[in-house]
Amino acid sequence: MTGDDLQALALSALGDIAGAADADQLEEVRRRYLARHGGSIAEAAIELSRAQGEERAVLGQAFNAAKRTVTEALERRQAELEAAVRERELLAESLDVSHPLRPLDRGHQHPVARTVREIEDIFLRLGYAVVAGPEIEDDLHNFQLLNMPPEHPARDGHDTFYLAGEAAGWLYRTHTSPMQIRTMLAGQPPFRIIVPGKVARRDNPDPTHNPVFHQVEGLCVDEGVTVADLKGTLEHVLGQLFGKRRGVRLRASFFPYTEPSLEADVACGICLGEGCRSCLNKGWIEILGSGMVHPEVLAAVGVDPDRYSGFAFGMGPDRITALRYGIRDVRELYENDLRLLEGF
Ligand code: DAH
Repeated sequence: MTGDDLQALALSALGDIAGAADADQLEEVRRRYLARHGGSIAEAAIELSRAQGEERAVLGQAFNAAKRTVTEALERRQAELEAAVRERELLAESLDVSHPLRPLDRGHQHPVARTVREIEDIFLRLGYAVVAGPEIEDDLHNFQLLNMPPEHPARDGHDTFYLAGEAAGWLYRTHTSPMQIRTMLAGQPPFRIIVPGKVARRDNPDPTHNPVFHQVEGLCVDEGVTVADLKGTLEHVLGQLFGKRRGVRLRASFFPYTEPSLEADVACGICLGEGCRSCLNKGWIEILGSGMVHPEVLAAVGVDPDRYSGFAFGMGPDRITALRYGIRDVRELYENDLRLLEGF
């Protein structure tokens, strides 16, 4: 073995290294030339150990040079092959930004929230302001100032949740009407407001009742407001909500805080007036109470009933939603069954 032989071996190794197509083939080349047993360059070391003097020095240098050349070439090739693998992986993972998306599941407003928004929009266009009030109320605002003193029989219709413990004396408002009182106590006429909000009553749940439900209260007080204004406003609003063709009827009614009092019913959307399970066989569903604000109520909050008059109403967006969309049971609106909610 001579220095030239070693150089030739190294050259041949470089050729093989360049030709190795993957990590396994490269390892095979490494073994062929450098393996301690059987590697052709490594074998030279055995001869080297027998050489003497000048020859030993020359052979030693040639051996080291060949081994270094081959080792470095192996490392370079290994790095190249690894880079190629990475490149291929990246390509395989690459994103096609022009690829159409799977349809995304988007959230949306709850149908009741949507009804409330629509009611707000209708009244905003009529010049009303939207205000909010407290859900926890006291007896004075929820009842007394609405002409329902203690022992008043109309209180029986409001199965009230009274708070206990430290909050004793407070109640969960049974309607949004206390905000009429708070609004009038806090300002001067004219008033044109609506009050969307949650209320609660100890009702047994049925297809038209939920213990917690929504109301939108309305109040319009000014000089010269008449029943005709009330009727016109209600007909306009219900026409916007249900379309002009859906049957709406106004009935005389009674509320302690209005005189006269009216209730509005809408024809059941399921049976259109025939009577069915969802309207409890009535054919019509009550969605709103209203009337001319009782002079005593005005007087009690410091509004002069000889100068001002007004109307008020309270409507139920849960029932309105159920009626508009043909939902048979208002309780379904709160079960949060996505199959129902996604239908909107
Ligand atoms: N507060 C009544 C209820 O909860 C609804 C109502 C009736 C509100 C007449 C009013 C009104 O403002 O004038 O059933």
